[in-house]
Amino acid sequence: MKFSKLIKKPKSYFKVKPNLEDYNKTYKNFNYKKHYKEIEWIKKNKLNAAYNAITKHTLTEKKNKVALYWEGPNGEKKEFSFLEMDLLSNKFANLLKKYKVKKRDRIFLFLPRVPELYIAFIGILKTGAIAGTLFSAFQSKALEDRLKDSGAKIVVTTKELKKRIYQVKRNLPELKHIIVVDDKKRSKQEIDYQKEMETISQEFKIEETGPEDLAFMLYTSGTTGKPKGVIHSHLACLHEHMTSKYVLDIRDNDVYWCTADPGWVTGIAYEILGSWSVGASSLVYAGRFSPEKWYSLIQKYQVTVWYTAPTAVRMLMRYGDKLVKKYNLKSLRHLCSVGEPLNPESVKWSIKVFKRPFHDNYWQTETGGIVIANYPLMPIKPGSMGKPVPGIKAAIINDNGKELPANKQGTLAIKPGWPSMMCDIWKNKKKYNSYFKKGWYITGDKAFKDKDGYFWFIGRDDDVIKTSGERVGPFEVESALVEHPAIIEAGVIGKPDKLRGEIIKAFITLKPGYRPSAALEKNIQKFVKKRLAGHAYPREVEFRKNLPKTRSGKIMRRILKSQELGQKVGDTSTLEKF
Ligand code: PRX
Repeated sequence: MKFSKLIKKPKSYFKVKPNLEDYNKTYKNFNYKKHYKEIEWIKKNKLNAAYNAITKHTLTEKKNKVALYWEGPNGEKKEFSFLEMDLLSNKFANLLKKYKVKKRDRIFLFLPRVPELYIAFIGILKTGAIAGTLFSAFQSKALEDRLKDSGAKIVVTTKELKKRIYQVKRNLPELKHIIVVDDKKRSKQEIDYQKEMETISQEFKIEETGPEDLAFMLYTSGTTGKPKGVIHSHLACLHEHMTSKYVLDIRDNDVYWCTADPGWVTGIAYEILGSWSVGASSLVYAGRFSPEKWYSLIQKYQVTVWYTAPTAVRMLMRYGDKLVKKYNLKSLRHLCSVGEPLNPESVKWSIKVFKRPFHDNYWQTETGGIVIANYPLMPIKPGSMGKPVPGIKAAIINDNGKELPANKQGTLAIKPGWPSMMCDIWKNKKKYNSYFKKGWYITGDKAFKDKDGYFWFIGRDDDVIKTSGERVGPFEVESALVEHPAIIEAGVIGKPDKLRGEIIKAFITLKPGYRPSAALEKNIQKFVKKRLAGHAYPREVEFRKNLPKTRSGKIMRRILKSQELGQKVGDTSTLEKF
């Protein structure tokens, strides 16, 4: 196996002393209990992640500091101080109370990245209810699966997006209200956000939740079945705080930009709960990706810490070095990326153009925060995810749960018990338990550790697809495909792609009377897009006479993938002839 060499960071990188000064020492002596005081508790044993992210700052000189710089798709700008965020979220919490929201009720946010998304998220946590997020790209089927499983009581949305909820509302008996942030009340069930917020009190007594009380949930995909509701407790904010400090190296005077959407756990942990806990001003840009716009935002807001995804870095690379030079990006101090492998070329390119490397880090919706990372003071081996964060014991194990020696490939596993480890899968204990084997939390990723303790990602151990950093379950796409009138069967895989990491490829068989054609392919793609989401449709469709299946009739994605990659198919003795 060939490793890239350690690269030195340019001298200019070290102008400011990082928060984590000695990785080895901190890692060795780390004990979470000793760091409980780094976050703000309401009182002994009472912790509310919203209080810790926002309210605590209003009791200090930071109260008038900007918490959120918001820029909309058409250049609209808004700013909110910590105090304003606190009062607005108090109002929202009162609004929820008015509509009888109780502790543990599920309140979902189906919103684009508008300021109301952040206000409402904080407000929900203040009531003790569970906040769930949904990408605004989700279409009716994706919404129905998630809102039905969670038994959501209220959805907060916009005039435009609410139409998709109405398409499936008849199947959502537990949904009591729809709060619309930009429209007048149109039915008995709707609540007019603007109108209610005008008059409702800005005083609210935050629910004194315990560290183990449930705070937020996200639906995420595995290989089989529908997406699962991963739940986190209020204590997750401790790990998110510590990693915002040690890995993202955020401090008080930073202008921090995380490009993630809170529909993804990154946008919750490192745009709300962790990054605000350390007191940074956060930039949120709600518009589409454009390299010019992105660079101009860094220049305009003097962004110091930037957290993004490898696909975005690769897209920026495509637009070349010349464009970067048109902007003054000297404010940048620390760059991080997450979600998929960060190729060594991207690290080298960022040193060339930004004079500092992107620092890769690794985690999952289920881990609730970064678990493996590259740190400011540690040399980077481009292509490696780095080393476990203080408080995390990670290992490469075999099927018997035995730790494997350096350079041996195996399953990436973590010792359970860190504060942001998911605390349940909504109404699915069996699934939750399946993550834990032989005393380890199993990530479902394959990796190895080199002799210096750096972890290297190899790939998923299952069929989960990562396209532009988004996690897509093949089952969800297959289920949408087979609802198309022309399709009998479908098998879906992730196909390697230079820009997006992977793209979704579907293999399908057609019903008698239908013939493969470019028009049908387009129609099928549109069909999936309309039901699931813009990112979850197959960019490639291949028509087949039949698909490889086990004798019990299960489509073998593994075989489809091997065929696609021109690899040996392996043992086919249990297969039906194909
Ligand atoms: O396969 C790993 C990949 O993303 C998966 C987690 O996806 P999701 O829950 O959507 O991510 C949430 C927050 C990041 C992992 O199981 N992944 C994540 N980070 C990396 C990665 N693969 C390679 N390198 C990474 N740094």
